[in-house]
Amino acid sequence: MLMSRPVELLGTSWVLFAGLLVPLQHAAEGTEKAAAVGSSVLLPGPDNITHIYSTRWEYLDGTGSRTILQYYRGSHDPAICTPYAGRAVFHPSNGSLLLEDVQESDSGIYKVTVNAGDRESLKILLEVLKPVSRPQLRSSSLVAQATGEVLCDVVEGRVDAITWKKDGQPLPPDRGFYLSDSFSVLYLRSAKKSDCGSYSCNASNRISWQETSLNVTVAGLSPPLQDALRIAVVAVVFAAVSGWGLIFPVCQSEKLRISPSIAIILPEIALTYVMVVNFVVSATVTFQPTKLTQLKSKTAQRMMGYAAPAGVVSVVLTTSFLIKNIHHRHEEGCTDFVDVTALTVSTAAVSALPLLAIFLCYHTTQGWLKDRDSSWADKERYIPYCLFPCKFIPS
Ligand SMILES: *[C@@H]1O[C@H](CO)[C@@H](O)[C@H](O)[C@H]1NC(C)=O
Ligand SMILES: *[C@@H]1O[C@H](CO)[C@@H](O)[C@H](O)[C@H]1NC(C)=O
Ligand SMILES: *[C@@H]1O[C@H](CO)[C@@H](O)[C@H](O)[C@H]1NC(C)=O
Ligand SMILES: *[C@@H]1O[C@H](CO)[C@@H](O)[C@H](O)[C@H]1NC(C)=O
Repeated sequence: MLMSRPVELLGTSWVLFAGLLVPLQHAAEGTEKAAAVGSSVLLPGPDNITHIYSTRWEYLDGTGSRTILQYYRGSHDPAICTPYAGRAVFHPSNGSLLLEDVQESDSGIYKVTVNAGDRESLKILLEVLKPVSRPQLRSSSLVAQATGEVLCDVVEGRVDAITWKKDGQPLPPDRGFYLSDSFSVLYLRSAKKSDCGSYSCNASNRISWQETSLNVTVAGLSPPLQDALRIAVVAVVFAAVSGWGLIFPVCQSEKLRISPSIAIILPEIALTYVMVVNFVVSATVTFQPTKLTQLKSKTAQRMMGYAAPAGVVSVVLTTSFLIKNIHHRHEEGCTDFVDVTALTVSTAAVSALPLLAIFLCYHTTQGWLKDRDSSWADKERYIPYCLFPCKFIPS
């Protein structure tokens, strides 16, 4: 048998052989191939062979070798072994082998030997990979000044690398931490406004890559602060409406000047609402209304008279200050400000109702008293009952 053994092949073979012994990334070029599951791979035969008399393809696993096919020039078809029958196509002209529909289990070393000579052999490391699936990107709830994280998780496919971008700009590789091969975390320490933006995560392996983006927002206010804001808004609106309730009677004409009892009772209601001493007090007051008329002492009346407007003013001041601080805090994030319009309107409506009721009732009482031709002093005694359903008015 005449064999062509160019001198170069000697060197090439040794390089190739050595390449398989050292770690994968150092293997000589051209001996590695990567393919996606289900695709076809063309495994080339050795170069530089002018006359091919016989060709043998083997699959090497850790322990031994398994013959894929054997071909002799002159025979019609190559002898393809059972597991490869139907999915291996051999090209006698150049010794290459086309493997169709490769699976992960096909990963390994393929060796082709031409003309039964060791020097005319070639080893190819084939890696069959599943394409990476689209990464799942999510973030923890991000609040200004707290630590948050953006998580990138790849469910399927062996991932070689995960890279991060923010607003299209690559982030330094050390920003992302691998919790596993297919799970990377980006920590946002002491989150701030500049952390808001579009984050993308690119998961790749040798045959594919997939990228997902997520718009990340940092909230200036934590949920408890949002609640504090709502309560503050309610307090301010209640206080403001109550303040109006205090001023309005003073602006009335001399004839309609409100009695001291009203001046006490209005802020009473206001403060009861504002400080949310609420239902218990209200219930007591509703079911035992006489308790209110027992406030006979001049000092007690005066104290109540000063305490009420002072309370309203202090509530407005402190809550305004609180809202200002909360708003400042909100500026550290990038979310929309908590919408308090509906809250403001409904609070105003609800807090105005009792005032409205009182004035309606007051005027009804006026009319009723006029009919009776009673003295102003008498009215003073009856007015407190306006706070409660008119049926309490003594006949
Ligand atoms: C070998 O020959 C076949 C058919 O002639 C061709 O499709 C294939 O690309 C060739 N392989 C190489 C490695 O050149
Ligand atoms: C073998 O291939 C090399 C390049 O890979 C080339 O330089 C050389 O001439 C070839 N030898 C023969 C005998 O074809
Ligand atoms: C994702 O990463 C791969 C591998 O590094 C790269 O080829 C590809 O261009 C990247 N995709 C984008 C959108 O940057
Ligand atoms: C992110 O926000 C931009 C505009 O702010 C929008 O065009 C884009 O579709 C958003 N992306 C996602 C993933 O929601």
